[in-house]
Amino acid sequence: MGYTYEYFQKSADYVKSKVDFTPEIAIVLGSCLGPFAQQIEDPITIDYKDIPNFLVSTVASHAGKLIFGTVCGRKVVCMSGRFHSYEGYDFEQLVIPIRLFKLLGVKTVILTNASGAINTGYRPGDVMILKDHIKLNGHSPLRGPNVPEFGPRFFDISNMYTPELRKIALECAKGTGLRVHEGVYMFFTGPQFETPAEIRAARILGADCAGMSTVTEALTAAHCGLPLLAMAVVTNMGAGVLDQPLTTDEVDETAQVVAGPFSEYMKKIVAAI
Ligand code: HPA
Repeated sequence: MGYTYEYFQKSADYVKSKVDFTPEIAIVLGSCLGPFAQQIEDPITIDYKDIPNFLVSTVASHAGKLIFGTVCGRKVVCMSGRFHSYEGYDFEQLVIPIRLFKLLGVKTVILTNASGAINTGYRPGDVMILKDHIKLNGHSPLRGPNVPEFGPRFFDISNMYTPELRKIALECAKGTGLRVHEGVYMFFTGPQFETPAEIRAARILGADCAGMSTVTEALTAAHCGLPLLAMAVVTNMGAGVLDQPLTTDEVDETAQVVAGPFSEYMKKIVAAI
């Protein structure tokens, strides 16, 4: 379907009527990384289902709330729960949250996710700052009539993961105890995990982590010129790397262990941006 500028404005008008400040930084929390939301001071919470023209989360580990507040003295909005194409959304619908942030006046977007390591030098619990991505399947979220108020029809994405923000994130990693890499994220549609052959193919193509999110939001941010930082938490080795099947329990367990140190790391980044 073709969305108009007014369609997105309707969501923004509702949210602006509930929050009396402009958030500077928008943070999208990936699967099981929700505990960061507890760091938000003086929170104002809005359920996705109350926002006109918005979407609703269908994944159990995704809360489905926008949380506005302060982290390290900075005004933020946090998406606790995100939307994926595997839930049944069209790729074109996945622009909605990032365009809302743009209309709210956000200046920086931080995306986080849980992912499987393709790079055999990575370990569960590591963090990868995205320096680039590979998306060879599924539509672009920018498919359909362009909405020129957000950005041009055709646009360059050679440096869409903002180099200055990557530098800050690398710098902030020091002293956190986390192993932080820079690498390439490969988008898979899910909801099934990848096959071992897909992971091997992805490695040959130059990917370091595999996941089912982030890239659609990242492309939307790039289209409307929003500075962008994206970080993947390695919750498991990709399919076939170890001689064992992948389980969601493994993903959830690692995410739970990493959530604390990762939240601290995120706070440092928010303070440094
Ligand atoms: N593949 C895709 N998405 C994921 C994975 C994975 O191995 N782990 C967590 N999210």
